[in-house]
Amino acid sequence: MQVIRSIVELRAARDPKRKSVLVPTMGNLHAGHLSLVKIARERGDQVITSIFVNKLQFAPHEDFDKYPRTFERDCELLSAGGSDVVFAPPDSELYPETQGYTVRPPPGLADILEGAVRPGFFSGVCTVVLKLFNLVQPDVAVFGKKDYQQLLVIRNMVRQLALPIEIVPGETVREPAGLALSSRNGYLNESQRNEAAQLHAALRKVAAEVKAGRSDWPAIEREARDFLTTRGWLPDYVSVRLRADLGAPAPGAPAPGEPLVVLAAAKLGGTRLIDNLEI
Ligand code: PAF
Repeated sequence: MQVIRSIVELRAARDPKRKSVLVPTMGNLHAGHLSLVKIARERGDQVITSIFVNKLQFAPHEDFDKYPRTFERDCELLSAGGSDVVFAPPDSELYPETQGYTVRPPPGLADILEGAVRPGFFSGVCTVVLKLFNLVQPDVAVFGKKDYQQLLVIRNMVRQLALPIEIVPGETVREPAGLALSSRNGYLNESQRNEAAQLHAALRKVAAEVKAGRSDWPAIEREARDFLTTRGWLPDYVSVRLRADLGAPAPGAPAPGEPLVVLAAAKLGGTRLIDNLEI
């Protein structure tokens, strides 16, 4: 496996005759990321994993500085997991000057849910992802469903900017109790870690009720938030949305052929977790 730090080396390593697949990450890899690398391996013949903690997607009060950086271990995992190339540029390589040109994703998709709580987040994500796409020029890129809204925003960007890249989703990988794997799980202490699976439990309850015929969305969402609050969480949102564009479903039963997803974000102690479940 080649470990590459510079754009010049990346261009030399990129083999245009091979079908290349990009897995963008911020490092601190876990089994969820490795499942994306596995998908990449099946989809192409040059797998490039990027590791870059993108300052543009962190607000000043967020965890950019303390975000776990575990580069040596990440490389071991990626080598065993089947990545051909690791592209891990320093900040100065990707942002040699202030990034004045940025991507402004449509507010209807990017300023709701995560984007409402983290203003500018998806602009930061889209800007770095577009830059990585320009550098790597992959045929395919793999994104996890754990970041459901991110996946939709990236798909939308690729479609609207006519980028010749197929976006492939990867299923969320969970601990046996249901907690979705995330680099931020590492911030949890032992008792919080036991509690953390309740976020998934709250989503499962919502999904079960919707499947059983409930469609009073505000009440369902409030009950899920209350469930979390009484257990000591600080929920930002629990929201049932249309899978296609994350729009709010109409009051009453959803139209057939309009599949739903329930998304949630909540803080447990100082750690903010997100999760979702397709219904
Ligand atoms: O999902 C992530 O890890 C990041 O948002 C991404 C896509 C690598 C962009 O920095």
